[in-house]
Amino acid sequence: MTLVAVCSVKGSPGVTTAALGLAGCWPFGHRPLMVECDPGGGDLLARYRLDMAPGLVSLAAAARRTTEPDLVWQHTQRLPGGLPVVTGPPGAEQARAAIEQLTMDSTTLLRKAADRAGAVVVADCGRIDPQSPVMPVLHQADATILIARAKDDALAHVATRAGTLERWSRRMCFVLVGDGYRSDEVARELGITVTARLPEDPRGAAALRGDFGRRSSPARSALGKALAALARQVADLAAEVPRRELTEAELAAPAAHFGLPAGPHAGGPPPHGNGAV
Ligand SMILES: Nc1ncnc2c1ncn2[C@@H]1O[C@H](COP(=O)(O)OP(=O)(O)OP(=O)(O)O)[C@@H](O)[C@H]1O
Ligand SMILES: [Mg+2]
Repeated sequence: MTLVAVCSVKGSPGVTTAALGLAGCWPFGHRPLMVECDPGGGDLLARYRLDMAPGLVSLAAAARRTTEPDLVWQHTQRLPGGLPVVTGPPGAEQARAAIEQLTMDSTTLLRKAADRAGAVVVADCGRIDPQSPVMPVLHQADATILIARAKDDALAHVATRAGTLERWSRRMCFVLVGDGYRSDEVARELGITVTARLPEDPRGAAALRGDFGRRSSPARSALGKALAALARQVADLAAEVPRRELTEAELAAPAAHFGLPAGPHAGGPPPHGNGAV
């Protein structure tokens, strides 16, 4: 159904955090999945102390034999709240080799996986440039979310690429993070549309990183709420349907993916969320 690529062009503005939050807060009634395909290497394995396999490397190895779309789901692990993730290897070399394998066919395996009914694949594509092995994923994404801090140095890099960004994806959504220039100033100066602004929220980001205590849930943080709103916006854009108001049940649903009031290593079975987990 929907493939969303999340990336940056400079620095570490919170791509992995945003990709996790978008998948975890995706609107009710879909099957979201987060894939760490950052050519610089993955972070989730260490952050959540997950197992080395399955993940991107085992998925790439399996993709040499078959490219059936459900393969991607077979190589997921679940985060404590139940969100399925394909973890990237920590090493850049291994990550690049796996990504090259997965993007070998003209229709990438992630695109095939996203084309399944109800499936939503959110790909963490890391910091990109035109030579990145993950570019085919961007080209085939229904929407690409480019994350940047609203500061001079980060924006200078966006500005130099402003002309080509639109060609990187079917739909480029520019998202600013944290303090700095106002969104309307950035939009005017760079001649781009700013789709959303994510708040500076270290606690919310820590919760999304897995450093959350028994009482905090990422979905309830300011950042979690902003990402849930962005997820609804992108879901609507991707489906190209008019925006509509959500019911109370749908608004409550995002918490389902992060539903366990437990730390990252609590163990136990994943909760049954909105049908996606
Ligand atoms: N909105 C935010 N407010 C405050 N801190 C944030 C926010 N988003 C992310 N962070 C923090 O910034 C740091 C980098 O975040 P993250 O790993 O998501 O960035 P990245 O762009 O994926 O970086 P990398 O280049 O390492 O892949 C983390 O410590 C994270 O908790
Ligand atoms: Mg990252």
